[in-house]
This record gives sequence, C-alpha cells and structure tokens, in this order.
Amino acid sequence: MLRALEHYVAPGQRLFDDPFARPLCGPLLSTLLSLFAVRPLREWAFRRSERRAPGAVGLLLCRFAYLDDVLREALADGVRSVVILGAGLDSRAYRVPGAAAARVFEVDHPSVVQVKKTRLQRHLGTLPSHVRFVAVDFETLDLATALAASGFDPAQRTLFLWEGVSQYVTRTALDDTLRFVGGSAPGSRLAFSYVLQRFIDDRSAFPELSDLWDSVCTGDDPLWKSGLHPVDVAGVLSGFSLRICEEVGASQHVARYLEPRGRGLHVCEIERIVLAEVQSPPAST
Ligand SMILES: C[S@@+](CC[C@H](N)C(=O)[O-])C[C@H]1O[C@@H](n2cnc3c(N)ncnc32)[C@H](O)[C@@H]1O
Repeated sequence: MLRALEHYVAPGQRLFDDPFARPLCGPLLSTLLSLFAVRPLREWAFRRSERRAPGAVGLLLCRFAYLDDVLREALADGVRSVVILGAGLDSRAYRVPGAAAARVFEVDHPSVVQVKKTRLQRHLGTLPSHVRFVAVDFETLDLATALAASGFDPAQRTLFLWEGVSQYVTRTALDDTLRFVGGSAPGSRLAFSYVLQRFIDDRSAFPELSDLWDSVCTGDDPLWKSGLHPVDVAGVLSGFSLRICEEVGASQHVARYLEPRGRGLHVCEIERIVLAEVQSPPAST
C-alpha cells in the first residue's frame, strides 16, 4: 500500500514509480487506496502512522528506493541472474528497466507466491516468462535445492535481494541463507536489510517505537525474531565469504533520497541495509 501511495506524490518529489503496487494489493485494498486520492485523508493516515511508529514510512520508502538502485546498477553491470528472497509483493522484476532481460527468481512462502501469481495473472493476463516463482519456507526447506529445481544456475554471477525479511526468520535460517548466498558465484552481490538487535532485545531502547515493538517483538513466537548488531555485521558476513561494499542507515537515506527531493520525512534508526559481495575462495597452495 505504501508503494502504491507514492503515486500521489508530485513527480519531482517521488522516490519511485510502482504501477504494479496497486494491482498487487488485490481488489479490496485497491478500492480502499482510491480514498487516498483525497489529500487530507492521506495526511491523516500519515500523521497516524508517524504517531505510532515515527520514521517508519520514511525508512520503508528509502529502502524501496535504495534497492531499486541496487538492482538498476547490477543490471547495468551485466548481471543477468537475480534472486529476490522473501519477495512478497515486490514488483521490481516487472518494472525496473532491463529486468526482463534477466532471469529472476522470486522466493517466498507458498501461500504468498500463490496470491502474487493470481494477482499478477489478473493484472497482466499472463505471468512474465523471465520470472520463476519459488515456493520455500526458509525455516524448513533447503534454498539451494528449491532454486536448483527452478533452473537457478549457481555458476552465474547473481544479485540477491533480501529486503525486509531477515528479522522474520530464526537466526539459524538467517545464517543458512547467508551461507547459501556466500557459496554462490564470486562477484555475486547480496543487498539485505536487518533490524538492530538492540531494538529486538529491549523495548526501552527506542521508546518512541514502543507501539511497534509491542506489535512485532512480543509473545512466545514473536513476528520479529532476529536482528544483528552493526559492529558484528562485517564479521558475520566474512564467515560466509561475503565482504561489505556499503552499509546504509537513516542519515544516508536522508542525504541520498529525501533532501534532494525536498521530502521532510523522518527516518527511524532501527534498520540498516548492507550491500555485500561474494569473495573468491582462497587459491589452494
Ligand atoms: C515484510 S515482507 C517484505 C516483502 C518484500 N521483500 C518487500 O520488501 O516488500 C516479508 C516477506 O518475507 C516472507 N517470509 C518471512 N518469513 C519467511 C519464511 N520463513 N520463508 C519464506 N518467506 C518468508 C514473507 O512471506 C513476506 O513476503
């Protein structure tokens, strides 16, 4: 819905154009979205969101824009294999110029894959032939096996996008995914977001986000299970043959995306994005 709402922002200030966002919301939400053509209603919804989770909207919009840029740069660099892990209703495979020349694998829970395929089929009349849908539960199914069965070639330099997902899986599944990506062709890249472990561990660490904490970090089986400490990230990744190329957080988002467009949005600090590259194995002696 947030991606669809960006359509109402003036073109010069818009962070991205996602014509698929609305059809992918499904008929009910799509109808609801029409109401937000009324500006005061949009402003009311934004104020409400900012009261509940200040900076979350800014964070998500910048994250979408950053990962669009990562995909554009990889395609310009000749990458022709893209794996979107936990793709959800992400539509980059259909709207980023050049993506149709790549082989794209969208991986998610079987139920999410089914909903997405149905909505895409309804919108496009057919499913795009450059995209393979891979139904996987990161907790239980071997990613390598599932991708191989869908035609993924591990020898090809690949871009892996893992956006807004790592916090939902157990630490074991997080490490398993990093291990799989780190074992792919050297020069492959991974862009992924992670939530600060400090937020997950301590409700009082970000008092202004305590409502969000209450909705995602509580209970016997909390929605958000795993985070990372920024100081540990380089070490964790190097254990899986991944070297950090860039790491971005709130201040970089503001400088790169919001200030140049005159968007006075606040960006909360609880999540960061890492762009990392798979290293060549050491030469044997
Ligand atoms: C917050 S959504 C992010 C979706 C998309 N990457 C985006 O940023 O718009 C998290 C996604 O991760 C998927 N996911 C979470 N846990 C998963 C698991 N164990 N196996 C497969 N997919 C999972 C969810 O189904 C969902 O689509």
